[in-house]
Amino acid sequence: MTRRNFLSKGAMLAGGTYPTMMALGMLKPAPAHAFNLTGSGNGKHIIILGGGLAGMTSAYELTKLGYKCTILEARERAGGRCWSIRNGSTHTEVGQAPVTAQFDDGLYFNAGPSRIPHHHELTLHYCKELGVPIQVYNNVNEGAYYFAEGKGPLSNKKIRAREVHNDVRGYMAELLSKSIDKNSLDTALTKEDTQKILEYLAAEGGLDIDKLYKASARRGYIESPGPGDKAGKIGDANKLADIIQSGLMDPDFYNVAEYTYELQMTMFQAVGGMDQIAKALQKQVVPYLKLGAEVTSITNLPEGVKITYKDASGEHVLQGDICICTLPLPVLSNVNNNFSGDVSRAIDYISYNQTGKIGLQFKRRFWEEDDHIYGGITHTNNELTQIFYPSYDYLSKKGILIGYYNFNEKALQTGELNYADREKLALQKGRLIHPQYDAEFERSFSVSWHKAKYNLGGWAVYGSESRKNQYPVLLKPDKQVYFAGEHLTYLNAWMAGAFESARSVVTAIHGRLTEQRVTYPATKG
Ligand code: ALA
Repeated sequence: MTRRNFLSKGAMLAGGTYPTMMALGMLKPAPAHAFNLTGSGNGKHIIILGGGLAGMTSAYELTKLGYKCTILEARERAGGRCWSIRNGSTHTEVGQAPVTAQFDDGLYFNAGPSRIPHHHELTLHYCKELGVPIQVYNNVNEGAYYFAEGKGPLSNKKIRAREVHNDVRGYMAELLSKSIDKNSLDTALTKEDTQKILEYLAAEGGLDIDKLYKASARRGYIESPGPGDKAGKIGDANKLADIIQSGLMDPDFYNVAEYTYELQMTMFQAVGGMDQIAKALQKQVVPYLKLGAEVTSITNLPEGVKITYKDASGEHVLQGDICICTLPLPVLSNVNNNFSGDVSRAIDYISYNQTGKIGLQFKRRFWEEDDHIYGGITHTNNELTQIFYPSYDYLSKKGILIGYYNFNEKALQTGELNYADREKLALQKGRLIHPQYDAEFERSFSVSWHKAKYNLGGWAVYGSESRKNQYPVLLKPDKQVYFAGEHLTYLNAWMAGAFESARSVVTAIHGRLTEQRVTYPATKG
């Protein structure tokens, strides 16, 4: 059999060329998460609403199985929130004129996802399967700052994260050490065990021989060590009371990234912008993707579904066997439908957060040159909340900082500002930390996701009530309409949620249409 014959035979058997090509060694084997459904969709038509990661992944997997797919995407670009802003990117927010980014070529920032946890296997799987190179994303930087504006004795001082973290660790270790020593702690431990704890606390907190916390090299130097007689000089620790009164230990401010499962290193990003993942997926589904197609109604028929959408040429009707709806719920809430009462209520009830980012292009990477900050995050108590330093093109000339990345109340406030005022705010607050802003700033571009026309929210945020009552409603199809996206997982706000959810509905649909019993994730045994 020729290779060509084998390919077309295999394609017929397997419902697509992909698995055959894998078998022939023409594609790199996928890592841990190959999707191994069997049987053919026999050309049944699946209409997918939304060309973000969940929608495109659904189409990618369904067409491998022999389904016919149509993806309707309202924007003139695919990818949804998986979007990197570069020169020429355009954006529309409710109540503001469309804007176009004017950054230098080669510079970008990720308006949506910017980091991939190392345990999000499916995200990494698709990077590998689609040939998207990744690089380490530096999420943790002890050299970045804490900045408490207008609060307490440490007000308006930029303090390196290593100073705050080591001071807090030291003082807490000292306190605990003293209280254990005085036997005031009922630990029910042996003397030897207690001794071990004291040794641990001394090491953890960097305590001296008298179990007292004194500043050490852990918190850095005010004069660096060097040659000859330059032993280096360690600064004094900040007083515990000062740290407390400036709010640096407040639970919503004190921030050790590694305490959060998703933010523990190693983290990754796509080389050249996170949108490379969306672009690679788009390449796979281009024949089925309609851009500029805004869904106006979703109707379950006795059999199949009817979707209406409008594009530049007018209104259109599309009929299919099954629909996968990945529209963000605040958007879906405004689309005509004949869903059940329970489904409609769940769509309206599940809430989304507010969040925004601004990219600031600077003509000099002063954060690297002057502050020795290479990637990572500065935390503030003001509107900025966070400054993200870029984890690419270190030591190059220019760069884009994420000048704020904020949430909820603060994001709501900045989102209400027009683009020029957002820039003004980012510069005004940012220069308190980096006075270099004044001389080095060039251009900005901001995105408020809850104001973005086809998002109207950041990501789904569940409370125990909505997780228990509304979430399960949307995990099931409403007749022929299935719902998918990060909002239908426990991986909210992560690309992994979009990928996992896509596979989950593809499995359910394939099971239904081929009358097989399949579950996702596959149960072992
Ligand atoms: N996944 C979002 C982030 O990385 C929450 O900030």
